[in-house]
Amino acid sequence: MNLAEIKKQVIQELGGIKNTVDLEQLRIKYLGRKGRLTLILRSLKDLPEKEKRKSGEGANELKREIEIMISERKSEILEKELKTKEGKIDVTVPGTKVLRGHLHPFTFISRKIEETFQSMGFKILEGPDIETEQYNFDALNIPKDHPARDAWDTFWLKPGSQRSKAENQKLLLRTHTSPMQVRFMEKNNPPFRIVIPGRCFRYEATDASHSHTFYQLEGLMVDKHISIANFKAVIGEFLRRIFGRETEIRIKPSYFPFVEPGFEVDMRHPSGEWVEIMGAGMVHPNVFKNIGYVPSQWQGFAFGIGIDRIAMLKYKINDIRLLYSSDLKFLNQF
Ligand code: DAH
Repeated sequence: MNLAEIKKQVIQELGGIKNTVDLEQLRIKYLGRKGRLTLILRSLKDLPEKEKRKSGEGANELKREIEIMISERKSEILEKELKTKEGKIDVTVPGTKVLRGHLHPFTFISRKIEETFQSMGFKILEGPDIETEQYNFDALNIPKDHPARDAWDTFWLKPGSQRSKAENQKLLLRTHTSPMQVRFMEKNNPPFRIVIPGRCFRYEATDASHSHTFYQLEGLMVDKHISIANFKAVIGEFLRRIFGRETEIRIKPSYFPFVEPGFEVDMRHPSGEWVEIMGAGMVHPNVFKNIGYVPSQWQGFAFGIGIDRIAMLKYKINDIRLLYSSDLKFLNQF
């Protein structure tokens, strides 16, 4: 039997095949170990060199063609099998699962935090990652050579950049989002409420609860009669919305040069432990004075929330490094 005849036969037989079992039989008949075409291919080795090449090309070409025809017919059959006799889609056939991505838990919680403050009338702003010494420290009532500066282990940038020359300033990676309080107040008058989410940097070793890069959300509300009671109400509502339940908090005195009084807010972890989630306080008169407000006219509260801490509490993550690791084994759990 020559190749052309085989091809004709295959085409003819293929037309009558209605299921994959018969299709496999046909494949074996022609391409199997003792298949018709296989036998021809095998017999080629006994031919003289020149003929071998010529017939070999044709036979191999046909083999490829038959393989393609079979696989195309197979797709057709499978597609038909999915439909019922009337040609409708059989909705009882199990579907194939489509893989979907999702937001990183940190992105998700950050957005939720921002939305929550927005719905309470706070405007969302952003500030520069690279700050001047003036905004990061001096304007916040943290004078040069004051020991309080040691609380912020700072990444200083090499002097000599265009910007540091222009501003005649030492540049650094902001150690907190508080400098944006000053940048905003310089250009705006009270009353206002703002929050500033942002990346912060500290020159410190990494462990389960510290990272050299982390996120804070700064908050500032200034008006004529603002008190700690307002702060407690705002923070209470914020936590209720994020955690979906009443959360137990504890406010204890602390020291930050830009507030007076200053405090720390701890939240009760389900395990019973207290976890610090923010620093806060009533804006220090010196900060108002530095930017030209009359301190006796205005009052305000400020806070700096560790967004990573909130994410860790919300998702019960006990190692901050996991949050920033991009490890899919970790992320796929959300
Ligand atoms: N900036 C402080 C820090 O990074 C946190 C903080 C404390 C922010 C008190 C505030 C505040 O606005 O009032 O440690």
